[in-house]
Amino acid sequence: MSSSKLTKIMNDDKEFLFQNYGERLPVSFVKGDGSYLYDQDNKKYVDFLSGIAVSALGYSHPAYQKALHGQIDKIIHSSNLFFNQEQIETARLISETSFPGKSLFVNSGTEANEAAIKLARRYGLGIHRKKYKIVTFTGSFHGRTFGSMSATAQDKIHGGFGPIVPGFIYAPYNNRKAIRKILKNDKHIAAVMLELIQGESGINVADADFVREIFETCNQKGILTIVDEVQTGIGRTGTTYVHQHFNVTPDILTLAKGLGGGVPIGAIHAKNFLAEHLPYGTHGTTFGGNHLACAAASAVLNEVKKKQFVNAVDASSTYIFDRLKKIKQKTGYIKSLRGMGLHIGVEIAEEGKHLVKEALEDKLVINCTAGNVIRIMPPLNINMKTLEEGMDIFEKLILKNGELYENTSNKL
Ligand SMILES: Cc1ncc(COP(=O)(O)O)c(C=O)c1O
Repeated sequence: MSSSKLTKIMNDDKEFLFQNYGERLPVSFVKGDGSYLYDQDNKKYVDFLSGIAVSALGYSHPAYQKALHGQIDKIIHSSNLFFNQEQIETARLISETSFPGKSLFVNSGTEANEAAIKLARRYGLGIHRKKYKIVTFTGSFHGRTFGSMSATAQDKIHGGFGPIVPGFIYAPYNNRKAIRKILKNDKHIAAVMLELIQGESGINVADADFVREIFETCNQKGILTIVDEVQTGIGRTGTTYVHQHFNVTPDILTLAKGLGGGVPIGAIHAKNFLAEHLPYGTHGTTFGGNHLACAAASAVLNEVKKKQFVNAVDASSTYIFDRLKKIKQKTGYIKSLRGMGLHIGVEIAEEGKHLVKEALEDKLVINCTAGNVIRIMPPLNINMKTLEEGMDIFEKLILKNGELYENTSNKL
Protein backbone atom coordinates (compact mmCIF):
# COMPACT_ATOMS: atom_id res chain seq x y z
CA MET A 1 0.00 0.00 0.00
CA SER A 2 1.48 3.33 -0.95
CA SER A 3 1.22 6.15 1.54
CA SER A 4 -0.33 9.47 0.54
CA LYS A 5 3.18 10.99 0.57
CA LEU A 6 4.39 8.38 -1.90
CA THR A 7 1.35 8.78 -4.14
CA LYS A 8 2.06 12.50 -4.45
CA ILE A 9 5.73 11.84 -5.23
CA MET A 10 4.75 9.29 -7.90
CA ASN A 11 2.30 11.70 -9.54
CA ASP A 12 4.79 14.58 -9.48
CA ASP A 13 7.46 12.34 -11.00
CA LYS A 14 5.17 11.63 -13.96
CA GLU A 15 4.31 15.28 -14.36
CA PHE A 16 7.80 16.77 -14.18
CA LEU A 17 10.34 14.11 -15.17
CA PHE A 18 11.26 12.16 -18.29
CA GLN A 19 10.08 8.62 -17.82
CA ASN A 20 13.31 7.13 -19.20
CA TYR A 21 13.89 4.97 -16.12
CA GLY A 22 10.69 3.06 -16.74
CA GLU A 23 8.61 2.08 -13.77
CA ARG A 24 10.51 3.21 -10.69
CA LEU A 25 10.35 1.10 -7.55
CA PRO A 26 7.64 2.44 -5.24
CA VAL A 27 9.83 4.11 -2.66
CA SER A 28 11.65 7.42 -2.23
CA PHE A 29 14.63 7.36 0.10
CA VAL A 30 15.13 10.42 2.23
CA LYS A 31 17.88 9.38 4.65
CA GLY A 32 20.65 6.84 5.16
CA ASP A 33 22.55 5.64 8.19
CA GLY A 34 25.26 2.98 8.14
CA SER A 35 23.97 0.47 5.61
CA TYR A 36 20.32 1.33 6.21
CA LEU A 37 18.08 3.50 4.07
CA TYR A 38 14.92 5.28 5.27
CA ASP A 39 11.95 5.98 3.02
CA GLN A 40 9.49 8.86 2.81
CA ASP A 41 7.54 7.38 5.72
CA ASN A 42 10.68 6.76 7.79
CA LYS A 43 10.58 2.99 7.19
CA LYS A 44 13.99 1.34 7.42
CA TYR A 45 15.58 -0.90 4.73
CA VAL A 46 18.80 -2.91 4.55
CA ASP A 47 20.78 -1.66 1.59
CA PHE A 48 22.23 -4.44 -0.58
CA LEU A 49 22.65 -2.17 -3.61
CA SER A 50 24.67 0.95 -2.60
CA GLY A 51 22.95 2.97 -5.32
CA ILE A 52 24.44 0.52 -7.87
CA ALA A 53 27.93 0.23 -6.39
CA VAL A 54 28.20 3.93 -5.54
CA SER A 55 27.79 4.39 -1.77
CA ALA A 56 31.05 2.62 -0.99
CA LEU A 57 31.16 3.90 2.60
CA GLY A 58 27.42 3.56 3.16
CA TYR A 59 25.64 6.54 4.67
CA SER A 60 26.70 8.98 7.37
CA HIS A 61 30.30 7.75 7.46
CA PRO A 62 32.02 10.14 9.93
CA ALA A 63 35.31 10.78 8.03
CA TYR A 64 33.50 11.11 4.70
CA GLN A 65 30.91 13.50 6.11
CA LYS A 66 33.58 15.55 7.87
CA ALA A 67 35.54 15.89 4.62
CA LEU A 68 32.44 16.99 2.72
CA HIS A 69 31.21 19.43 5.35
CA GLY A 70 34.72 20.87 5.63
CA GLN A 71 34.99 21.32 1.87
CA ILE A 72 31.53 22.88 1.51
CA ASP A 73 32.52 25.45 4.11
CA LYS A 74 35.65 26.33 2.12
CA ILE A 75 34.96 26.10 -1.64
CA ILE A 76 32.90 23.80 -3.87
CA HIS A 77 34.03 24.81 -7.35
CA SER A 78 36.60 27.07 -8.94
CA SER A 79 37.55 25.86 -12.43
CA ASN A 80 40.07 23.73 -14.25
CA LEU A 81 41.63 27.05 -15.26
CA PHE A 82 43.24 27.04 -11.80
CA PHE A 83 45.37 24.66 -9.76
CA ASN A 84 43.30 22.50 -7.47
CA GLN A 85 44.93 20.83 -4.48
CA GLU A 86 42.03 18.46 -3.84
CA GLN A 87 42.34 17.20 -7.42
CA ILE A 88 46.07 16.67 -7.08
CA GLU A 89 45.53 14.74 -3.83
CA THR A 90 42.88 12.46 -5.37
CA ALA A 91 45.16 11.76 -8.35
CA ARG A 92 48.01 10.99 -5.97
CA LEU A 93 45.81 8.54 -4.08
CA ILE A 94 44.74 6.82 -7.31
CA SER A 95 48.42 6.46 -8.31
CA GLU A 96 49.28 5.13 -4.88
CA THR A 97 46.51 2.55 -4.90
CA SER A 98 46.70 1.44 -8.58
CA PHE A 99 49.88 2.19 -10.55
CA PRO A 100 52.09 5.23 -11.12
CA GLY A 101 50.49 7.50 -13.69
CA LYS A 102 48.37 10.57 -14.27
CA SER A 103 44.66 11.17 -13.79
CA LEU A 104 42.10 13.25 -15.59
CA PHE A 105 38.79 13.90 -13.86
CA VAL A 106 35.30 13.88 -15.32
CA ASN A 107 31.82 13.48 -13.86
CA SER A 108 30.59 9.96 -14.57
CA GLY A 109 31.48 6.50 -15.82
CA THR A 110 30.43 7.13 -19.37
CA GLU A 111 32.57 10.28 -19.46
CA ALA A 112 35.54 8.38 -18.08
CA ASN A 113 35.23 5.84 -20.90
CA GLU A 114 34.67 8.62 -23.42
CA ALA A 115 37.99 10.16 -22.32
CA ALA A 116 39.73 6.77 -22.49
CA ILE A 117 38.45 6.20 -26.03
CA LYS A 118 39.62 9.65 -27.13
CA LEU A 119 43.04 9.12 -25.53
CA ALA A 120 43.47 5.67 -27.13
CA ARG A 121 42.50 6.93 -30.58
CA ARG A 122 44.66 10.02 -30.38
CA TYR A 123 47.60 7.93 -29.21
CA GLY A 124 47.04 5.25 -31.85
CA LEU A 125 46.71 7.75 -34.67
CA GLY A 126 49.46 10.04 -33.42
CA ILE A 127 52.13 7.45 -32.71
CA HIS A 128 51.26 4.59 -35.03
CA ARG A 129 49.41 6.61 -37.66
CA LYS A 130 46.67 4.23 -38.68
CA LYS A 131 45.64 2.69 -35.36
CA TYR A 132 42.21 3.85 -34.31
CA LYS A 133 40.06 0.75 -33.75
CA ILE A 134 39.05 -0.34 -30.28
CA VAL A 135 38.08 -3.91 -29.47
CA THR A 136 35.29 -4.35 -26.89
CA PHE A 137 33.32 -7.43 -25.88
CA THR A 138 29.87 -8.93 -26.15
CA GLY A 139 27.83 -8.23 -23.04
CA SER A 140 29.91 -5.18 -22.13
CA PHE A 141 28.48 -1.99 -20.74
CA HIS A 142 30.52 1.20 -20.96
CA GLY A 143 27.90 3.95 -20.78
CA ARG A 144 25.31 5.97 -22.64
CA THR A 145 27.12 8.82 -24.41
CA PHE A 146 27.86 8.23 -28.09
CA GLY A 147 31.42 6.93 -27.75
CA SER A 148 30.78 4.76 -24.71
CA MET A 149 27.45 3.59 -26.11
CA SER A 150 29.21 2.58 -29.32
CA ALA A 151 31.86 0.78 -27.29
CA THR A 152 29.07 -1.15 -25.58
CA ALA A 153 28.59 -4.33 -27.61
CA GLN A 154 24.84 -4.63 -27.14
CA ASP A 155 22.34 -3.86 -29.91
CA LYS A 156 19.62 -2.96 -27.43
CA ILE A 157 21.72 -0.02 -26.18
CA HIS A 158 22.25 1.35 -29.73
CA GLY A 159 18.67 1.06 -30.94
CA GLY A 160 16.94 4.13 -32.37
CA PHE A 161 19.95 6.48 -32.41
CA GLY A 162 21.05 6.12 -36.01
CA PRO A 163 24.68 5.51 -36.91
CA ILE A 164 26.90 4.81 -33.94
CA VAL A 165 30.57 5.82 -33.73
CA PRO A 166 32.63 3.71 -36.16
CA GLY A 167 35.85 1.96 -35.25
CA PHE A 168 34.69 -0.52 -32.63
CA ILE A 169 35.18 -4.26 -33.07
CA TYR A 170 33.01 -6.49 -30.92
CA ALA A 171 34.67 -9.73 -29.85
CA PRO A 172 33.11 -12.59 -27.91
CA TYR A 173 33.82 -12.31 -24.16
CA ASN A 174 35.97 -15.01 -22.61
CA ASN A 175 36.88 -16.42 -26.01
CA ARG A 176 40.65 -16.67 -26.18
CA LYS A 177 40.87 -17.96 -29.71
CA ALA A 178 38.67 -15.22 -31.14
CA ILE A 179 40.59 -12.37 -29.53
CA ARG A 180 43.90 -13.92 -30.57
CA LYS A 181 42.72 -13.99 -34.18
CA ILE A 182 41.44 -10.42 -34.15
CA LEU A 183 44.60 -9.00 -32.61
CA LYS A 184 46.77 -10.99 -35.03
CA ASN A 185 44.97 -10.01 -38.23
CA ASP A 186 43.93 -6.38 -37.83
CA LYS A 187 46.75 -3.84 -38.00
CA HIS A 188 44.55 -0.89 -37.07
CA ILE A 189 43.76 -1.72 -33.48
CA ALA A 190 44.67 1.00 -30.99
CA ALA A 191 43.23 -0.56 -27.85
CA VAL A 192 41.34 -3.38 -26.21
CA MET A 193 38.79 -2.20 -23.66
CA LEU A 194 37.12 -4.52 -21.19
CA GLU A 195 35.44 -5.08 -17.86
CA LEU A 196 37.15 -7.84 -15.88
CA ILE A 197 33.76 -8.52 -14.34
CA GLN A 198 30.85 -7.51 -16.55
CA GLY A 199 28.44 -5.92 -14.10
CA GLU A 200 25.40 -4.92 -16.11
CA SER A 201 25.17 -8.13 -18.08
CA GLY A 202 25.03 -10.38 -15.04
CA ILE A 203 28.31 -10.36 -13.07
CA ASN A 204 30.28 -12.35 -15.65
CA VAL A 205 33.83 -12.86 -14.43
CA ALA A 206 36.61 -12.92 -17.03
CA ASP A 207 38.65 -16.13 -17.34
CA ALA A 208 42.24 -15.68 -16.16
CA ASP A 209 43.57 -17.22 -19.42
CA PHE A 210 41.50 -14.89 -21.56
CA VAL A 211 42.81 -11.86 -19.65
CA ARG A 212 46.40 -13.11 -19.87
CA GLU A 213 46.05 -13.62 -23.64
CA ILE A 214 44.82 -10.05 -24.09
CA PHE A 215 47.49 -8.43 -21.94
CA GLU A 216 50.37 -10.47 -23.36
CA THR A 217 49.37 -9.89 -26.97
CA CYS A 218 48.63 -6.21 -26.46
CA ASN A 219 51.97 -5.65 -24.74
CA GLN A 220 53.78 -7.40 -27.60
CA LYS A 221 51.99 -5.42 -30.29
CA GLY A 222 51.90 -1.98 -28.69
CA ILE A 223 48.12 -2.12 -28.37
CA LEU A 224 46.74 -0.27 -25.34
CA THR A 225 44.70 -2.00 -22.67
CA ILE A 226 41.81 -0.14 -21.09
CA VAL A 227 40.14 -1.67 -18.05
CA ASP A 228 36.74 -0.24 -17.23
CA GLU A 229 36.55 -0.36 -13.45
CA VAL A 230 33.61 1.98 -13.14
CA GLN A 231 31.70 -0.73 -11.28
CA THR A 232 34.50 -3.00 -9.98
CA GLY A 233 36.92 -0.34 -8.72
CA ILE A 234 37.36 1.25 -5.29
CA GLY A 235 37.38 -1.86 -3.14
CA ARG A 236 34.24 -3.44 -4.56
CA THR A 237 35.82 -6.83 -5.31
CA GLY A 238 37.98 -7.10 -2.19
CA THR A 239 41.07 -5.49 -3.72
CA THR A 240 41.24 -1.77 -4.38
CA TYR A 241 40.85 -2.50 -8.11
CA VAL A 242 39.77 -5.74 -9.75
CA HIS A 243 42.79 -5.76 -12.12
CA GLN A 244 44.89 -6.52 -9.03
CA HIS A 245 43.09 -9.89 -8.71
CA PHE A 246 44.24 -10.72 -12.23
CA ASN A 247 47.82 -9.51 -11.73
CA VAL A 248 47.65 -7.18 -14.71
CA THR A 249 48.20 -3.44 -15.04
CA PRO A 250 46.15 -1.69 -17.69
CA ASP A 251 47.51 1.26 -19.66
CA ILE A 252 44.30 3.12 -18.91
CA LEU A 253 41.96 2.58 -15.98
CA THR A 254 38.50 4.15 -15.88
CA LEU A 255 36.68 4.89 -12.64
CA ALA A 256 33.46 6.47 -11.35
CA LYS A 257 30.61 5.15 -9.13
CA GLY A 258 32.29 4.28 -5.79
CA LEU A 259 35.07 6.82 -6.34
CA GLY A 260 32.99 9.72 -5.02
CA GLY A 261 30.98 7.62 -2.56
CA GLY A 262 27.84 9.37 -3.89
CA VAL A 263 29.22 12.67 -5.15
CA PRO A 264 29.42 12.47 -8.96
CA ILE A 265 32.98 12.07 -10.19
CA GLY A 266 34.73 9.93 -12.79
CA ALA A 267 38.37 9.57 -13.74
CA ILE A 268 40.78 8.06 -16.15
CA HIS A 269 44.13 7.06 -14.81
CA ALA A 270 46.81 6.32 -17.41
CA LYS A 271 50.44 5.35 -17.48
CA ASN A 272 52.74 8.36 -17.67
CA PHE A 273 53.71 7.94 -21.34
CA LEU A 274 50.09 8.45 -22.39
CA ALA A 275 49.25 11.72 -20.69
CA GLU A 276 50.91 13.90 -23.35
CA HIS A 277 48.49 12.54 -25.96
CA LEU A 278 45.63 14.62 -24.61
CA PRO A 279 47.35 18.02 -24.78
CA TYR A 280 45.73 21.43 -24.35
CA GLY A 281 42.55 21.82 -26.34
CA THR A 282 41.82 18.13 -26.90
CA HIS A 283 39.64 17.31 -23.90
CA GLY A 284 38.17 18.86 -20.80
CA THR A 285 35.08 19.48 -18.70
CA THR A 286 33.84 22.36 -16.59
CA PHE A 287 32.96 20.38 -13.48
CA GLY A 288 35.43 17.49 -13.75
CA GLY A 289 37.30 17.01 -10.48
CA ASN A 290 36.01 20.09 -8.70
CA HIS A 291 36.97 20.72 -5.08
CA LEU A 292 33.91 19.06 -3.57
CA ALA A 293 34.00 15.96 -5.77
CA CYS A 294 37.72 15.45 -5.10
CA ALA A 295 37.37 16.02 -1.35
CA ALA A 296 34.76 13.24 -1.44
CA ALA A 297 36.95 10.97 -3.58
CA SER A 298 40.02 11.48 -1.39
CA ALA A 299 37.97 10.68 1.72
CA VAL A 300 36.74 7.46 0.07
CA LEU A 301 40.22 6.44 -1.11
CA ASN A 302 41.76 7.14 2.29
CA GLU A 303 39.34 4.61 3.81
CA VAL A 304 39.44 2.01 1.03
CA LYS A 305 43.25 1.90 0.89
CA LYS A 306 43.44 0.65 4.50
CA LYS A 307 44.31 -3.03 4.70
CA GLN A 308 41.62 -3.63 7.33
CA PHE A 309 39.01 -2.09 5.03
CA VAL A 310 39.52 -4.55 2.17
CA ASN A 311 39.97 -7.37 4.70
CA ALA A 312 36.50 -6.55 6.01
CA VAL A 313 35.15 -6.62 2.43
CA ASP A 314 36.64 -10.12 2.12
CA ALA A 315 35.09 -11.24 5.41
CA SER A 316 31.66 -9.92 4.38
CA SER A 317 32.04 -11.58 0.99
CA THR A 318 32.91 -14.93 2.56
CA TYR A 319 29.89 -14.65 4.83
CA ILE A 320 27.51 -13.90 1.92
CA PHE A 321 28.93 -16.63 -0.34
CA ASP A 322 28.75 -19.20 2.50
CA ARG A 323 25.12 -18.33 3.12
CA LEU A 324 24.35 -18.36 -0.61
CA LYS A 325 25.97 -21.76 -1.09
CA LYS A 326 23.83 -23.17 1.73
CA ILE A 327 20.68 -21.66 0.24
CA LYS A 328 21.64 -23.05 -3.17
CA GLN A 329 21.89 -26.54 -1.67
CA LYS A 330 18.29 -26.20 -0.45
CA THR A 331 16.76 -25.12 -3.76
CA GLY A 332 17.28 -25.61 -7.48
CA TYR A 333 15.90 -22.09 -7.93
CA ILE A 334 19.44 -20.72 -7.70
CA LYS A 335 21.29 -21.67 -10.88
CA SER A 336 24.70 -20.16 -10.19
CA LEU A 337 26.61 -17.83 -7.91
CA ARG A 338 29.05 -15.37 -9.41
CA GLY A 339 31.34 -12.52 -8.55
CA MET A 340 34.06 -11.45 -6.19
CA GLY A 341 34.12 -9.44 -2.99
CA LEU A 342 30.87 -7.53 -2.62
CA HIS A 343 30.11 -7.63 -6.32
CA ILE A 344 27.86 -10.66 -6.32
CA GLY A 345 25.37 -12.14 -8.78
CA VAL A 346 22.80 -14.81 -7.98
CA GLU A 347 21.43 -16.37 -11.15
CA ILE A 348 17.91 -17.64 -10.61
CA ALA A 349 15.66 -19.89 -12.65
CA GLU A 350 13.24 -17.18 -13.79
CA GLU A 351 12.97 -13.43 -14.46
CA GLY A 352 13.95 -11.70 -11.25
CA LYS A 353 12.17 -8.35 -11.43
CA HIS A 354 9.36 -9.42 -9.12
CA LEU A 355 11.87 -10.51 -6.47
CA VAL A 356 13.24 -6.97 -6.30
CA LYS A 357 9.75 -5.66 -5.56
CA GLU A 358 9.06 -8.38 -3.00
CA ALA A 359 12.41 -7.74 -1.30
CA LEU A 360 11.50 -4.07 -1.04
CA GLU A 361 8.26 -4.99 0.68
CA ASP A 362 10.38 -7.03 3.11
CA LYS A 363 12.65 -4.00 3.61
CA LEU A 364 15.64 -5.17 1.62
CA VAL A 365 17.06 -3.27 -1.37
CA ILE A 366 18.44 -5.51 -4.13
CA ASN A 367 18.61 -5.26 -7.89
CA CYS A 368 18.18 -7.54 -10.86
CA THR A 369 20.25 -7.37 -14.02
CA ALA A 370 20.37 -9.35 -17.27
CA GLY A 371 16.82 -10.56 -16.60
CA ASN A 372 17.55 -13.23 -14.01
CA VAL A 373 20.65 -12.24 -12.05
CA ILE A 374 20.03 -10.74 -8.63
CA ARG A 375 22.83 -8.36 -7.73
CA ILE A 376 24.05 -8.09 -4.16
CA MET A 377 26.31 -5.05 -3.74
CA PRO A 378 26.03 -3.68 -0.21
CA PRO A 379 28.09 -0.76 1.06
CA LEU A 380 31.67 -1.99 1.45
CA ASN A 381 31.75 -1.26 5.17
CA ILE A 382 28.48 -3.03 6.01
CA ASN A 383 28.68 -4.59 9.48
CA MET A 384 27.97 -8.25 10.27
CA LYS A 385 24.70 -7.55 12.05
CA THR A 386 23.21 -5.68 9.08
CA LEU A 387 24.62 -8.26 6.70
CA GLU A 388 22.99 -11.08 8.63
CA GLU A 389 19.70 -9.17 8.74
CA GLY A 390 19.79 -8.68 4.97
CA MET A 391 20.77 -12.28 4.26
CA ASP A 392 17.94 -13.57 6.48
CA ILE A 393 15.44 -11.60 4.40
CA PHE A 394 17.10 -12.75 1.18
CA GLU A 395 17.09 -16.40 2.19
CA LYS A 396 13.38 -16.36 3.02
CA LEU A 397 12.63 -14.62 -0.26
CA ILE A 398 14.59 -17.15 -2.33
CA LEU A 399 13.17 -20.20 -0.57
CA LYS A 400 9.59 -18.90 -0.86
CA ASN A 401 9.97 -18.11 -4.56
CA GLY A 402 11.84 -21.35 -5.17
CA GLU A 403 8.93 -23.31 -3.76
CA LEU A 404 6.39 -21.35 -5.78
CA TYR A 405 8.47 -21.79 -8.93
CA GLU A 406 8.80 -25.54 -8.41
CA ASN A 407 5.09 -25.94 -7.75
CA THR A 408 4.20 -24.01 -10.90
CA SER A 409 6.77 -25.87 -13.02
CA ASN A 410 5.50 -29.24 -11.77
CA LYS A 411 1.93 -28.37 -12.75
CA LEU A 412 2.94 -27.47 -16.31
C1 LIG B 1 31.28 -0.97 -16.21
C2 LIG B 1 30.53 0.31 -16.39
N1 LIG B 1 31.05 1.26 -17.19
C3 LIG B 1 30.42 2.43 -17.37
C4 LIG B 1 29.22 2.70 -16.76
C5 LIG B 1 28.53 4.01 -16.99
O1 LIG B 1 28.66 4.81 -15.84
P1 LIG B 1 27.71 6.07 -15.61
O2 LIG B 1 26.34 5.54 -15.41
O3 LIG B 1 28.28 6.74 -14.39
O4 LIG B 1 27.82 6.92 -16.82
C6 LIG B 1 28.64 1.74 -15.93
C7 LIG B 1 27.34 1.97 -15.30
O5 LIG B 1 26.64 1.10 -14.85
C8 LIG B 1 29.32 0.51 -15.73
O6 LIG B 1 28.82 -0.45 -14.96
